[in-house]
Amino acid sequence: MCGSGEPRWGRGPCSPSPMLFLSLLLSTAPFVLLGEKTRQVSLEVIPGWLGSHQNLLHIRAVGTNSTLHYVWSSLGPPAVLLVATNTPHSSLSVNWSRLLSPEPDGGLVVLPKNSIQFSSALIFTRLLEFDSTNLSDVAAKLPGKPYPPYSLAEFSWNNISDSLDPATLSATFRGHPMSDPTKAFVNGSLAFRVQAFSGSGRPVQPPRLLHTADTCQLEMALVGASPRGNRSLFGLEVATLSEGPDCPSVLEKHSIDDEYAPAVFQLDQLLWGSLPSGFMQWRPVAFSQKQGGRESALSCQASPLHPTLSYPLPQSPIVRAFFGPQNFCAFNLTFGVSTGPGYWDQHYLSWSMLLGVGSPPVDALSPLVLGIMAVALGTPGLMLLGGGLILLLRHKQSSEYQPIN
Ligand SMILES: *[C@@H]1O[C@H](CO)[C@@H](O)[C@H](O)[C@H]1NC(C)=O
Ligand SMILES: *[C@@H]1O[C@H](CO)[C@@H](O)[C@H](O)[C@H]1NC(C)=O
Ligand SMILES: *[C@@H]1O[C@H](CO)[C@@H](O)[C@H](O)[C@H]1NC(C)=O
Ligand SMILES: *[C@@H]1O[C@H](CO)[C@@H](O)[C@H](O)[C@H]1NC(C)=O
Ligand SMILES: *[C@@H]1O[C@H](CO)[C@@H](O)[C@H](O)[C@H]1NC(C)=O
Ligand SMILES: *[C@@H]1O[C@H](CO)[C@@H](O)[C@H](O)[C@H]1NC(C)=O
Ligand SMILES: *[C@@H]1O[C@H](CO)[C@@H](O)[C@H](O)[C@H]1NC(C)=O
Repeated sequence: MCGSGEPRWGRGPCSPSPMLFLSLLLSTAPFVLLGEKTRQVSLEVIPGWLGSHQNLLHIRAVGTNSTLHYVWSSLGPPAVLLVATNTPHSSLSVNWSRLLSPEPDGGLVVLPKNSIQFSSALIFTRLLEFDSTNLSDVAAKLPGKPYPPYSLAEFSWNNISDSLDPATLSATFRGHPMSDPTKAFVNGSLAFRVQAFSGSGRPVQPPRLLHTADTCQLEMALVGASPRGNRSLFGLEVATLSEGPDCPSVLEKHSIDDEYAPAVFQLDQLLWGSLPSGFMQWRPVAFSQKQGGRESALSCQASPLHPTLSYPLPQSPIVRAFFGPQNFCAFNLTFGVSTGPGYWDQHYLSWSMLLGVGSPPVDALSPLVLGIMAVALGTPGLMLLGGGLILLLRHKQSSEYQPIN
């Protein structure tokens, strides 16, 4: 199985074992989505204060008995609040003078307060860059020597209203460093494309994560920025609220089915609290070309979450405004390894994730795999053998096959 530090792209070490196949076979329950099947989704840019653009995007997803609020902002580092309420009538209220003050507590509220069932937040604090040319780092499975990170709190972002697309329920935050002495971002930008959904489905672009009306997708793209080294690996530091003394953990879910994300048999999830609460979900894969495909796939490593008490993290006014003072946990996502495709190919890197409330969407097994399983189950005695055979066929590992003369 995959070690947590191993590159996870490729059939070799990540192929599921027959044991995993069997355990999935026995535990695959009918695919039931908790939550609402469809929602009325609206995107609204909340007008800034005194005519300046403060980029506060409110996604409101109304179901029969509940409303989800996703509030995205580039005030401070890019951040999102997710708030689930048990009424179709809850609303977001912003007090700009308080939100923009040094003590923003209470500047952003969801009303009525007693309808809130779950709330959490993510903050995208820094863009990391590593020099991966030292082979001893590669051997130690480290991304490399870090360059000074780019603080995303010190980026300037476009006017979100200009990219708001009600047809696709999406909007894009596009930014570059406010001060760029090395001119690395003269022709480049970091973009966060946010998309909501009124029902379930999958995007056309890999890794084709299954979304529902309870989720929101974020696609990060670093395009055209000059790397500081020939083999620069990039990363993203992400912070979230800690829960009591502990940090949430990232769980790896394995699957035997890679129909929608070829050769990626893993789904990573960060779960807040016990189910059903909220989650962040992603496939451990990023792409070095716009047309994401197998050739341009990079592995994506997630570090464990650590409390951030020991070092200063850029504060997010919206998170502070909603939650008041809190402790945070952070982790790093790093994209790619020095061998293999990378940002250096086309100065392009994209990665996507889902954020949602309730139980994370679960991929139903694809028709192909179901068909194979039906055959296997039809002959219980051969089930074990069948599981092994399927894997052999799917992975073309036919080394033990001897032609019959
Ligand atoms: C942002 O864009 C919208 C729509 O294009 C425009 O109405 C608004 O004035 C802009 N805001 C600022 C501060 O430039
Ligand atoms: C909405 O709430 C009502 C009453 O509490 C309940 O009967 C109904 O099943 C709920 N509908 C959904 C879709 O959860
Ligand atoms: C907004 O916050 C300011 C400063 O805390 C306060 O004086 C004002 O009354 C608030 N406005 C509203 C409408 O609550
Ligand atoms: C490579 O990394 C190792 C261990 O981190 C270090 O000792 C060595 O000096 C580095 N080599 C170069 C050329 O930077
Ligand atoms: C930015 O693009 C211009 C025009 O394509 C090019 O001349 C220039 O060298 C580029 N600058 C950097 C830093 O890549
Ligand atoms: C990048 O590669 C070029 C050519 O291989 C080399 O001349 C240059 O020194 C390298 N730059 C860095 C920062 O390693
Ligand atoms: C992320 O990586 C940077 C650069 O190596 C490091 O300074 C920071 O402590 C890391 N953060 C976490 C949460 O591991």
